[in-house]
Amino acid sequence: MPKVLVAYYSKTGNTKQVAEAIAEGAKSVKGVDVEIKNVADINAKEAVEADGFAFGSPAYFSMMSGPLLTLLTEFYFLREKLAGKPMVAFATGGGSQTKTTENIESILKAFNPKVILPGLSVGTKISEIDKQQAKQLGEKLAKTLS
Ligand SMILES: Cc1cc2nc3c(=O)[nH]c(=O)nc-3n(C[C@H](O)[C@H](O)[C@H](O)COP(=O)(O)O)c2cc1C
Repeated sequence: MPKVLVAYYSKTGNTKQVAEAIAEGAKSVKGVDVEIKNVADINAKEAVEADGFAFGSPAYFSMMSGPLLTLLTEFYFLREKLAGKPMVAFATGGGSQTKTTENIESILKAFNPKVILPGLSVGTKISEIDKQQAKQLGEKLAKTLS
């Protein structure tokens, strides 16, 4: 069964909440497996075997966090396995979350993905509307595999 991996970094829980909503949305699509993991717990060699990816981070100094950058750097050396797969970026922050989403997307391009879906940028107070949008995004990502 094709698998979606939701890979996120979160220190104080905001990005985790968005990641969980994306995973919930993806799980609503039949015939697709969904795994959600903090980047600290990810083995890059195993992780590249997934079929679709969502990558999320808090905005740190308007960029992605170090742990997500480390994972994406490891992924670069495994990029043949990532080519042609759908991807999406998401970020939370106190104002520069959109920049952070774009920062993640700029690296995803190096993996030659099938598509980079429009990303999701959320503030620090995660609302029900944010969660709804995150669920829709997860569903959309999973549907590209079903
Ligand atoms: C070291 C540090 C740097 C940050 N830099 C920014 C920033 O440049 N822009 C911004 O919008 N938010 C910034 N923030 C706020 C976080 O992005 C925001 O609180 C985020 O939602 C935290 O995510 P988490 O709860 O998943 O850890 C920063 C927070 C920390 C701890």
